[in-house]
Amino acid sequence: MGQFVVAGGRPLAGTFAVSGSKNAALPILAATTLVAAPVTLKGVPLGLLDVRHMLAMLRELGVRVATAGPDSVTVDARGPLSPDLPDAYTRTMRASVFLMGPVLARLGRVTVSRPGGCNIGPRPIDLHVKGLAALSVRFADGPGGHIVGEAARLKGAVTYLDFPSVGATENVMMAAVAADGTTVIENAAREPEVVDLAQFLNARGAAVHGAGTDRIWIEGGRTLSGGTYELIPDRIEAGTVAVAAALTGGDVTMSHVIPEHLTPLWRKLSEMGAVVELGSTTVRVSAAGALRAASLRTGPHPGFPTDLQPLMLALMTQARGCSTLVETVFENRLRHALELRRMGANVLTDGRMAVIYGPTPLEGAVVEATDLRAGAALMVAGLAAQGRTTVLGAEMVARGYQDWAQRLQSLGASVTLEP
Ligand code: EPZ
Repeated sequence: MGQFVVAGGRPLAGTFAVSGSKNAALPILAATTLVAAPVTLKGVPLGLLDVRHMLAMLRELGVRVATAGPDSVTVDARGPLSPDLPDAYTRTMRASVFLMGPVLARLGRVTVSRPGGCNIGPRPIDLHVKGLAALSVRFADGPGGHIVGEAARLKGAVTYLDFPSVGATENVMMAAVAADGTTVIENAAREPEVVDLAQFLNARGAAVHGAGTDRIWIEGGRTLSGGTYELIPDRIEAGTVAVAAALTGGDVTMSHVIPEHLTPLWRKLSEMGAVVELGSTTVRVSAAGALRAASLRTGPHPGFPTDLQPLMLALMTQARGCSTLVETVFENRLRHALELRRMGANVLTDGRMAVIYGPTPLEGAVVEATDLRAGAALMVAGLAAQGRTTVLGAEMVARGYQDWAQRLQSLGASVTLEP
């Protein structure tokens, strides 16, 4: 397990080019297995561990994968594929579950190990299974803690998601593309990454309508063709840098951003006293004066993104007054609060709620990344702390942030990655 060592007290300044979106890349890479022709994806964050794991899993299934540039990959799924998702990846990367729909669509069968929990909650796949079952997939328990899904033919249907799950929406959408007839997903997730998947599928010849709303309908059975597609930027990476600029009293301009993907963040940062300037594909964030306390509640898009909740909690430790934060999406996504207390933060948690009194001076300490966004938050807190902060679990952060130490250094941060 590597560690990041951060020397605090230096405001971030300069320009930052945002990578392609991890959470668009993972489902779209899975969706390439639906296409019996080569597909080239651009804007793929190939430096991320999760993306590398997804590419390795595709190769193990029989898909040909070739790098086509620093952030581009060509995928050819024409050959015979295996229905067995490799345990090595399904146990460590939840996004493996995105392959269930496409593999069922191609082969009529899929085997997957039950997903382990993770640090932010149990994260079952019951909504994925229920949605795919609506399309005539029959699931049964297989040997060794596996689930087996089978369907002679996928049949379009109306399915309702008890919770607007991003992954379940994407899984059902991909399966529905290959189903006979029309599928309607009610209470669908509305995240920009869901929209990007729909746009990728439609660029291949599919007929996905309503993505970005809570009712998506898909006319199945279209022939899909190969081609080239560029992913959207990573809004969570952009949000992470924006909070880092505000927390360090810096001034950073981010490029390769779709500002409307993060409206809730820009509003909240402005409310807290940061200066946010939105361009068409850029955002500039600066904070010279004191920050003001605020209240925050995460929620499914267009609500405040849960993935930026840890970053906002770190920011609130430096805001004047009493801030409150409620995490409504995941059951156990406040563990970074305890790590921030080690650095001197005055934060109390109870269940899904945190109360933060600020500003409190942060001191460098040894802390641990409990999930990838928590790790990013602890690094950002370290940038504002006095002294050195060591964030254990660098691999966790590398799942979602590529070349992270170097890219923060380019903004003036003192960050090193140690083995
Ligand atoms: C996606 O995860 C993202 N990951 C997550 O980003 C993100 O936090 C999450 O959506 C919410 O926006 C990818 O896109 C690869 P969900 P996903 O299904 O699809 C419960 C990051 O940091 N649930 O919307 O797994 C689940 O337990 C990651 O980049 C069920 O109960 O999220 C959770 O409480 C972290 N049953 C809630 O729904 C199910 O079958 C939201 O999960 C599925 C989900």
